[in-house]
Amino acid sequence: MIAAIGAVAANGMLGLNNWLPWDIPEELAYFERMVEGAALLIGRATYESMDVVPEDSFVISHRTDLVMRPGCRQVEDVESGLRSALATGKPVFVIGGASIYAAAWPYCERFYLTRIERDFAGDTLFPAEIPLAEWPVLAERTQSYLEKKSGERVLCRFIEYKQPSPRSLA
Ligand SMILES: NC(=O)c1ccc[n+]([C@@H]2O[C@H](COP(=O)([O-])OP(=O)(O)OC[C@H]3O[C@@H](n4cnc5c(N)ncnc54)[C@H](OP(=O)(O)O)[C@@H]3O)[C@@H](O)[C@H]2O)c1
Repeated sequence: MIAAIGAVAANGMLGLNNWLPWDIPEELAYFERMVEGAALLIGRATYESMDVVPEDSFVISHRTDLVMRPGCRQVEDVESGLRSALATGKPVFVIGGASIYAAAWPYCERFYLTRIERDFAGDTLFPAEIPLAEWPVLAERTQSYLEKKSGERVLCRFIEYKQPSPRSLA
């Protein structure tokens, strides 16, 4: 199954200075738990921002000088990246950033989206064209966490959306 996973602020922001706009360790830990053992599809900018990139990660880029870490492979577009990720036999997660969500969402059967119920300053917006509002919600839970940059508590809504008719890769 192909799924996407990400987090977005109330004002639509998902990135700042090539990292997350917030510091919520529990939300990051949730992401890490969810994608453990999966094959990942990653945009080049997000890939370069990550300290640790697990094996069977497929990085979308047109660059010719990109250095691949062990177990990672460069792919030239979303479709070939998803095919290669599926060929590993593992669950496949699209982990962003914005440009990759925008290109890959039609293929995703699920979108695990954490809605962080506060505005954050940022420079990268979650793609507005993903029609999540039209997709059924399979599961949702809300949890309050300390956001460490502001020192304030924020509500995180962990939502599992199901896309009714994902596009086939054939
Ligand atoms: N909140 C979250 O859940 C979350 C998750 C992930 C990332 N982020 C944040 O999102 C921001 C990065 O997002 P972004 O959209 O700027 O960058 P990105 O999607 O991570 O990477 C963009 C790069 O991917 C390559 N690319 C994108 N679409 C392509 C396509 N269709 N075909 C071939 N290559 C393609 C290009 O690489 P080349 O230029 O090398 O060709 C492009 O410059 C960061 O702030 C990051 O921390 C947030």
